[in-house]
Amino acid sequence: MKEFLLDLIKRAGDLTLEYRARLESLSIDHKSDKDIVTEADRAVEDFIIDAIRSRFADHAIFGEETGKTAGNEFCWVIDPIDGTSSFVHGQPYYSVSIALQQNGTTILGAVNVPVLGDIFCAEKGKGATRNGIPVQASTRDRLVNCHLATGFACLRSNFGYNNLPFLSEIAPVVRELRMYGSAAADLCYVACGLLDGFWELNLKPYDVAAGSIVLEEAGGKITDFTGSFERMDYEILATNGFIHDSVVDVFIGVRNTINGTMPLSEFAE
Ligand code: IPD
Ligand code: CA
Ligand code: CA
Repeated sequence: MKEFLLDLIKRAGDLTLEYRARLESLSIDHKSDKDIVTEADRAVEDFIIDAIRSRFADHAIFGEETGKTAGNEFCWVIDPIDGTSSFVHGQPYYSVSIALQQNGTTILGAVNVPVLGDIFCAEKGKGATRNGIPVQASTRDRLVNCHLATGFACLRSNFGYNNLPFLSEIAPVVRELRMYGSAAADLCYVACGLLDGFWELNLKPYDVAAGSIVLEEAGGKITDFTGSFERMDYEILATNGFIHDSVVDVFIGVRNTINGTMPLSEFAE
């Protein structure tokens, strides 16, 4: 499976580069005023699904653009282009993300950042690699020495409960913030120590499934903003593990300030 996945995600990344070479002629549709999908997203997802179907016809599939199709206990979770907004602007920071779940647990994942030449991969219990070389999260343990990344899907969804209060509280206590535009890639760059943490609200399984196993297998820690797992569908905090509790302390303070946890109905789509 791992060799199949690595070959597939490499070819999928190459396909994104073909579309990237003709951005000016790319057709773009709008899921909402800010949320876009292009012919490249759809073509890359179709390419990935065709390859999976040819090899594993009885597996289930969950693709961002085509949705869920039934199958056996195995399910491929696909984000064909994570960071479409970056992609259409010709920026290098976007990725292809593919994970394999068995009975709902991610057992294998890969993230390809084609323009930067990075392919991350992880198999449950067997570590994480960047272009075949083992990676480990950083050991920085003071926020003042750390770079954290985030994103703003929540603002695109116009939720009342959004990332801005968390941003304003964490920004003064870390060294740097970064907003690159691909959550899947952000998780992998935490896994290899280029970032020390990442957080975001309102991500979807296809944004984070592959990047999460890469980070966990690299020694990182992933919870919700309170350090537990109850709200993982709404918020993700991913760090090198050493700074996790420090960030949780800041975020719990924010949550208390905005009158505790918002009703989960806030996130109902
Ligand atoms: C987006 C990227 C971005 C994150 C957004 C996601 P998409 O994925 O992961 O980093 O901030 O919330 O929607 O829509 O380009 O596949
Ligand atoms: Ca995505
Ligand atoms: Ca996408």
